Amino acid sequence: MNEHVTYEVQDSVAVLTIAHPPVNALSFSVRSGLLDAVERADSDPTVRSILIRAEGRTFPAGADVREFGKPRAKPILSTVVARIEACSKPVVAAVQGTALGGGFEIALGAHYRLADRKARFGLPEVGLGVLPGGGGTQRVPRLTGAGSALDLMLSGKLISAEKASDLGLVDALVDGDVAAAGFAFARDLAQNGAKPRPTCERREGFADAAAYTAAITARRAEVAKSPLDAPGKIVDCVEAAMLLPFEAGIAMERAAFDDCENSDGARALRHAFFAERRAAKVPELDGATLREVNTIGVVGAGTMGAGIAVACLDAGFPVTLVERDDEGLMRGVEKIDAIYERSLVKGRIDAATRDARMELLSGSTRMEDLGRVDLVIEAVFEETSVKVGVFAQLDQVMKPGAILATNTSYLDINALADTISRPEDVVGYHFFSPANIMKLLEIVVADKTDLNVVATGFALARKLRKVPVRAGVTDGFIGNRILAAYRLAADFMLEDGATPTQIDAAMRAYGFPVGPYQVLDIAGLDISWARRKRLAETRDPAHRYVTIGDTLCARGWFGQKAGRGYYLYEAGGRVGREDPEVLRIISEARAAKGITPRAFTAEEIQARCLGAMANEGARLLEEGVALRPSDIDVVLFFGYGFPRWRGGPMMAADLRGLLTVENELKSWVEEAPEFWTPAPLWDELIKNGRHFADMNED
Ligand code: COA
Repeated sequence: MNEHVTYEVQDSVAVLTIAHPPVNALSFSVRSGLLDAVERADSDPTVRSILIRAEGRTFPAGADVREFGKPRAKPILSTVVARIEACSKPVVAAVQGTALGGGFEIALGAHYRLADRKARFGLPEVGLGVLPGGGGTQRVPRLTGAGSALDLMLSGKLISAEKASDLGLVDALVDGDVAAAGFAFARDLAQNGAKPRPTCERREGFADAAAYTAAITARRAEVAKSPLDAPGKIVDCVEAAMLLPFEAGIAMERAAFDDCENSDGARALRHAFFAERRAAKVPELDGATLREVNTIGVVGAGTMGAGIAVACLDAGFPVTLVERDDEGLMRGVEKIDAIYERSLVKGRIDAATRDARMELLSGSTRMEDLGRVDLVIEAVFEETSVKVGVFAQLDQVMKPGAILATNTSYLDINALADTISRPEDVVGYHFFSPANIMKLLEIVVADKTDLNVVATGFALARKLRKVPVRAGVTDGFIGNRILAAYRLAADFMLEDGATPTQIDAAMRAYGFPVGPYQVLDIAGLDISWARRKRLAETRDPAHRYVTIGDTLCARGWFGQKAGRGYYLYEAGGRVGREDPEVLRIISEARAAKGITPRAFTAEEIQARCLGAMANEGARLLEEGVALRPSDIDVVLFFGYGFPRWRGGPMMAADLRGLLTVENELKSWVEEAPEFWTPAPLWDELIKNGRHFADMNED
């Protein structure tokens, strides 16, 4: 019927085929093509039943997210689904791949659903700050009841075709060619004179009204805490499904969708969706050839090394783990074993999988054993001399063309690369702890790194199921530079009158799972202390410097592991309480500088922390350390707990208004000019009426 939907009649079955690569997203032309095709099939006297199928790897994976937030051309999805459902001839949907969001809703509009046994279903809209808008909130509960419908819509998680079948969402599972099976099914329906079976008329899900109501009540209490509107509206719509006539429920869903679509939360989540995918695209790598990576070595079996080894084993790579001595190696293998044991206990993997992964692991105390691997990731102690020593040995033993990756968090990779004979093979892979779980991977490109090595890093990240972000060499790369700015802004406030408790509470209220001082206590204050000591020599004495953290470290108050840091911990406890001694140290630091403490509101704490992060982000862009603003956002929400629904610091600045943020920065300049002076990029964007988001498309 148009370039994305074709129409063909065979044996009285009209076959409507959607072909809109890569994921058959339901853009305008797909919606209109489908509507035309359904109308034609309904009025075509030679047609007795209808099959809806999709070309390629998947049934539609949802609405076209690129159309969100813009005026939507008609027909909207809800109209198309309603028209499918209203067909006077039975309609069958044949599902393969992932029927998500609007794709699932199209299938629900059909009267029968067949699914490839490997297919998956889901309503992931909540992850984009919206709700199913194609009738999903009304049709799913009619089939499954409220509990399962809300599980799907509030979690956004995918379910298997088998589970969908158990829930009554799918009529038959197919091994093999689902389109052929769908065709046969549709033909049989026609031959048997089967009637349409509209989902809107079904009531199986309402059979147990008490359970339905109980599920609504329970979930309403749970979503009350959500900062977003969509979860509450999903519960309201599912409640309405049972209480209101179908059409009224649909109208309610539409209004709720429209309310959510242009909220800041939905805009930020859409931004996050595309930012994550954009990060993997690095224009300079176009045309690069990949080096082959089939085997991996990991040097250093501490927490990071063990986590990295597990990430590689999980992706099916044989891993050689190297430690200095047997004892260290043994401890490393035990850590890996413990990680798998936990996954086993939690039911994430079965024993056979655990065994298969451990089979891929070999340990050694000899660097020579890395002579044949394609890639080595070093995760030894974060100290230049130690890393230089390891690199020298690797240079000796590794085969030509193998890649040497360092997991350093801060150190100068250019300098490290220059200590060996093959700097072009050196790259930074900055993993985040726990490395087998955290999705972020900063791929740090040094001056001499071969582009093929960088491209191989991005390809490897995909295999490791990581989100890779390109970063240039600087102290702390993208993430830790922003983190340092965040902490400095917090430290200034600490010195000027706020307490750790107030700052942490304000940042939790913003959406971080924990505040900056809680993070310091968890991670250990000694790590950032080591960095400050390293930078001490080059620090400009005119720059504002807060000594509170150093004072705590000098006393050995390194955080949770010491029972004391910015907070005080009961023996072995993880929840800290305010420590009067720390408050005394803070007031002494204020007195030493003649500072009269003042009060800070939560809003000001948030504005300062976010302003500092975005300003540091602007500097990273100017320096070319980050390729684009959205990469910075990705680093922050995948690596540092920045709330995804706020979009990351650069998107948050866009949403708040660049002029507003720049004016705030200017108003703080006197307090620490070297820190608060807005990067020139602010003026450049503001003058040209641009936002950080516009730079993402450059
Ligand atoms: N709208 C527009 N574009 C979409 C899209 C959507 N709903 N879903 C995926 N895409 C695009 C991606 O941006 C990517 O484009 P690119 O190649 O230009 O970067 C491409 O399709 C492939 O997607 P990707 O996620 O890289 O592929 P995958 O094989 O890893 O995963 C899916 C496939 C379908 C599981 C995954 O894309 C997904 O979950 N999509 C979102 C589904 C969704 O949220 N739908 C509900 C919308 S209301």
